[in-house]
Amino acid sequence: MAARVTVIGVDGRPLPERAAARLAGATLVAGARRHLDALAVPEAAERHVLGDVAAGVAAVRAHRGPAVVLASGDPGFFGIVRLLRQAGLDPDVEPAVSSVAAAFALAGETWDDAVVVSAHGRDPRPAVNACLALPKVAVLTAPGSGPAEIGAALRGRPRRLVVAERLGTPEQRVTECAPEEAAARSWAEPNVVLALAGREAAGRGWAAPRRLTPARWGLPEEAYDHRDSMITKAEVRALALAHLGPGLGDLVWDVGCGSGSVAVECARFGAAAVAVDRDPAQCERARRNARGHDVDVLVVGGDAPACLAGLPDPDAVFVGGGGPEVVAAAAGRGARAVVVALAAVDRIAATRDALAAASYEVGGAVVNASRFAPLPGGATRLDATNPVFLVWGHRVVRHGVVRHGRHR
Ligand SMILES: C[S@@+](CC[C@H](N)C(=O)[O-])C[C@H]1O[C@@H](n2cnc3c(N)ncnc32)[C@H](O)[C@@H]1O
Repeated sequence: MAARVTVIGVDGRPLPERAAARLAGATLVAGARRHLDALAVPEAAERHVLGDVAAGVAAVRAHRGPAVVLASGDPGFFGIVRLLRQAGLDPDVEPAVSSVAAAFALAGETWDDAVVVSAHGRDPRPAVNACLALPKVAVLTAPGSGPAEIGAALRGRPRRLVVAERLGTPEQRVTECAPEEAAARSWAEPNVVLALAGREAAGRGWAAPRRLTPARWGLPEEAYDHRDSMITKAEVRALALAHLGPGLGDLVWDVGCGSGSVAVECARFGAAAVAVDRDPAQCERARRNARGHDVDVLVVGGDAPACLAGLPDPDAVFVGGGGPEVVAAAAGRGARAVVVALAAVDRIAATRDALAAASYEVGGAVVNASRFAPLPGGATRLDATNPVFLVWGHRVVRHGVVRHGRHR
């Protein structure tokens, strides 16, 4: 095991005294080639170029003398400290300024109200969904999941991007642009992307990231503009939300959205939301409701299932309107959960079968809510709402059933 491991953060500034002394005394130095070339690595030290990070960690672990690992920014923030600790090492850390902090500083923005997500070495869709859902997001990028791809996914959405390339190097460049422009250009590596909605995220808070769970959900119908009671009732919506499990990084479709109440509630949980309806007046109503709740919902006017084809794959789908063919189309897109609300008992079997045919684990319940209503003299009676059948499917994944968790 290495005698002592020091992780030194690199941000282009001269190393602080203690970090420089550790580097000067190291007999093994591991890091990206750009960091090894930029710093005074002792002549006699073994150099390990980090491409394969796991191999680098193994080399550091096996080394007998003092070792240094060079890493970008703050290595304890989405950095190599985690892997070193997982390998049983207990490194000293000499951090530099994180690329995220530097990018926000260059943009002149606060970042205690931001959410930081990573598309580095993982599926970029959750990071994109976070940008779609929240007003201030920083994305750690990777080749193939960079400004162009993020720009393409945010095309037409009210976001301004700040792309910070090669921070702390002579080629440092900070560009503010629309998503369309980001999509059309190539960008130097490494880079970090800020996706900003231009409205304040939440004011001064006490936690970073701020609380994303709404204080109340399953809101009463009066919280939404709706027509002729065409709205998923609060009790049904609450149960549907429990099965949809919306959260940061998710994309939720609300098909046959009506007032858009389900999409709005999913967005209030930090999920990206798409609301679909064939009626232009309902689409306008859903947009109004999203604005009224200060959330971003993409409202798509069109006939399902045809109009679903052009949408990005969802993590969860609520079907409030549309027949079994809409359920089948939604289920065919791989969401972890599909939840269907039905007024007609005759549709239950076809819905259940469509979900089962797509290998979902199917369940359901009828929601017969009777609400408190006032009687003269301060007494309370029960006011029965129309029964609604809720049918849900949860995805069975290859290595077992994900019953209570995420399969991402
Ligand atoms: C594994 S993360 C490391 C984050 C690092 N710990 C930090 O605090 O900046 C790698 C990502 O950080 C960002 N990054 C690192 N160095 C950068 C630089 N010099 N300029 C811009 N972005 C950088 C890029 O998004 C890169 O893909």
